[in-house]
Amino acid sequence: MRLVIIGSGYVGLVSGACLAELGHHVMCVDNDASKVEQLRAGQIPIYEPQLSEMISRNVAQGRLGFTSQLPALSKEIHAIMVAVGTPPRTNGSADLSAIFAVAQEVAAKAVHPQMVIIKSTVPVGTGDSVQALMHKARPGMHFSVISNPEFLREGSAIDDFMAPDRIVVGAGDETARNTLRALYAPLERTGTQVICMGRREAELVKCAANAFLATKIAFINEMADLCEAVGADVEEVAHGIGLDERIGAAFLQAGPGYGGSCFPKDTTALQAIAQEHGVNLRLVETVIASNEARKRSMGRRISKALHGDLTGRVVAVLGLTFKPDTDDMRDSPSLALIDALQRAGATVQVFDPQGMNRARMHLHDVHFADNAYLCAEGADCIALATHWPEFATLDAERLGQLVRKKVLVDLRNFLDPQAFLNAGFAVHAIGRPP
Ligand code: UGA
Repeated sequence: MRLVIIGSGYVGLVSGACLAELGHHVMCVDNDASKVEQLRAGQIPIYEPQLSEMISRNVAQGRLGFTSQLPALSKEIHAIMVAVGTPPRTNGSADLSAIFAVAQEVAAKAVHPQMVIIKSTVPVGTGDSVQALMHKARPGMHFSVISNPEFLREGSAIDDFMAPDRIVVGAGDETARNTLRALYAPLERTGTQVICMGRREAELVKCAANAFLATKIAFINEMADLCEAVGADVEEVAHGIGLDERIGAAFLQAGPGYGGSCFPKDTTALQAIAQEHGVNLRLVETVIASNEARKRSMGRRISKALHGDLTGRVVAVLGLTFKPDTDDMRDSPSLALIDALQRAGATVQVFDPQGMNRARMHLHDVHFADNAYLCAEGADCIALATHWPEFATLDAERLGQLVRKKVLVDLRNFLDPQAFLNAGFAVHAIGRPP
């Protein structure tokens, strides 16, 4: 099939590369001409494992291209996929102006009734608004607007795309459903379930899934607090409840609170659209508040580990991105942590394997170190904020020789506590007895 994907951000690029890999011909469009130049020169603007290789391979084989102008929408183009951003507005609702602008442009340029697949995460009812807008722009031309949400996780997006738990298609008419089935046929053949439903339902599946996952994380973080208070280990509690199939083991890792470009934004947008419809999502509201409080409270843990005073203390923060295997800093818990540390009078030294460039845009008055050991030099406390795999092999003895005070606060329960205890560190973990 021939596809045009509008928006070459995270979702658009991954979807474009993977659909080309499945054998389709994909043209990725982005109105940021410098980004398109970069992509054409083989430079990938985000860090995502396997993405760069997949893009180069498909560009070389002629199935993937990049342009800054919407190409002529000839009859050979089977569908247009929309993967533009839907950032939060100040009231928490999603800003859909980019989606509507694309819909307007496609309607104006279409020479036949195009199929428009919405990949961006949007509030329920957006598909209806897009369809209405396009029909108004081109009366008489029957555009088909489909919801096809993505469930990709940053850091494992390629694997998630190529072997998803399910593909959700929200479309009213059979032709649209069949086109989407054809698009994903190679994945259906290898066992992926494609489920078809109404457009509003598909839009809600995406937002409800993210809100539910965020709820699991907020729940286990509260259990971690309780575990600390009663001297129990949250890892064992999570293991014990996760083996109940009705609960499931995933997303029960206690930590510094969830971050990233999706959970914070999507939970707030879900709450906003519910409010617009007069529905009060009390649970979602509580999850949002609980997570915000969680992120802000991380600084207090460091302060407690240093006996209550951070004035003049040096804290080495290892890991800055909102999770490993990405360079994304958006809403990262490390930002709230560093802010709290600085407000309390601490000096902060930081290191992240992939996030340093983006971190420089977010962080001020911190010392950027070139590696984890240089970051630890002269510190009164090492705080692990993101569990990058390479931190697992850090040499505790060597770190012990570099720091001023041997205190480790592991906000991800990731490092081997025994190795640090053996090296003379006081070890503080999440939801675990000391
Ligand atoms: C999330 C969803 O997992 C994807 O299914 C969805 O497609 C995506 O949002 C999106 O809407 O586009 P992502 O934000 O990339 O993916 O990352 P996650 O792996 O879900 O992690 C989100 C945050 O939760 C991170 O800060 C992570 O550290 C935290 N987390 C995750 C925990 O604290 N504990 C856990 O057990 C799991």
